[in-house]
Amino acid sequence: METIGIIGYGSMADMMVQKWLNRDVIEAHQLMIHTRSETERLHQLMQRHQGIQISSISELSESCDLVFICVPPLAVLGILDQLHLKKEEAHIVSVAAAVTLDKLTQHTHHPVSRYIPTLTSAVGTGVSLVAHSKSVGKEHQERLERLLSTFSIVREMEEDRMNAASNLTSSSPGFIAAIFDEMASAAVRNSGLSLVEAYEFLTYALLGTGQVLVEQGMTFAETVDRVATKGGITREGVEVIQQQAPRMFDDLFTQTMKKYEQLQLQIDEADKHH
Ligand SMILES: NC(=O)c1ccc[n+]([C@@H]2O[C@H](COP(=O)([O-])OP(=O)(O)OC[C@H]3O[C@@H](n4cnc5c(N)ncnc54)[C@H](OP(=O)(O)O)[C@@H]3O)[C@@H](O)[C@H]2O)c1
Repeated sequence: METIGIIGYGSMADMMVQKWLNRDVIEAHQLMIHTRSETERLHQLMQRHQGIQISSISELSESCDLVFICVPPLAVLGILDQLHLKKEEAHIVSVAAAVTLDKLTQHTHHPVSRYIPTLTSAVGTGVSLVAHSKSVGKEHQERLERLLSTFSIVREMEEDRMNAASNLTSSSPGFIAAIFDEMASAAVRNSGLSLVEAYEFLTYALLGTGQVLVEQGMTFAETVDRVATKGGITREGVEVIQQQAPRMFDDLFTQTMKKYEQLQLQIDEADKHH
C-alpha cells in the first residue's frame, strides 16, 4: 500500500486530506504529515483520524511514494532541496502558484507534477489543473488523477496557459465572491433591502445558477436568454454588464498576470541567492 506524504498543513492540504479520509480513498496509516508548526487544524485532524504519522522531512523521505508540497510559493524550492526521497520512482506534486516545472526539476531528479487546487473542492467540486514533467509516467499520472477525482474534475493544462486557467479555477471563487459582494452593496445603496437579505438572495441565486449550468447543461448565453427576454427588465441590467464588464475583466487579467510574473521573478531571485 502506498504511503503519501504531505508537507505543509494549511487550508489546501487539509481540504485534500479530509476528502480522501472521509471518502475512504486512503487510510490514515498511509499518511505522513510534516509541518512547521502544530496548528489547531492538525490537532483536529489527528483527533478524528487515528494512525496518521507526524514526521520529519527525512522520515517522510524514507517511506513515501507520493509527496504533496503544500507550502507558499517562495518556500517550495527550499523544501525540495531537503527532500531526499529514497524510492527512485517516488512522485512529487507541488500545489504552489508560479513555481514552474522547469524550476522544480532543477531541484529534484524525481518525477514532478504541478497541481493547482481550488477552494471549491472542499465541497467536492471544482476543476483541478495539473501539469507533469517529462519523467512522470502514465501510472503516476493516473494515480494522481484518481486521487484528485475524489473532489474535482481533473484537467491537464500546458504551463503557458496555467496562470490564466488558474484565474478561472482557483482564483474565481474569490472573484465571484467579490463581484456578488458589490452587487449586494449596490442593492443596499439603491433600495430598502438589508445586506443580510441581499446576501441570502444572491447566495441561493448563485448556487442555483451553478446547478442550472451543470445539471441542465445550459451555457451562460442560454441562461441569459432564458431570464432576460427582449425588451424586458432583466435585459436592461444585462446590457449594463455587457457594456461595463469587459474593461473590468481585462484589467483583472492584466493585473493578475503581472502579479504572476512578479512572483516568478521573486522565486528566481530567491533561488539565485540560495
Ligand atoms: N488557497 C487557495 O485557494 C490556493 C489555490 C491554488 C493554489 N494554492 C497554493 O497552495 C499552497 C498552500 O496554500 P494554502 O492556502 O493551503 O496556504 P496556508 O493555509 O497559508 O498554508 C500554508 C502552509 O505552509 C506552511 N508554511 C508557510 N511558510 C513556510 C515555510 N517558509 N516553510 C515551511 N512551511 C511553510 C504553513 O505553516 P505554518 O502553519 O507554520 O505557517 C502552512 O502549513 C500555496 O503555494 C498556494 O500558492 C492555494
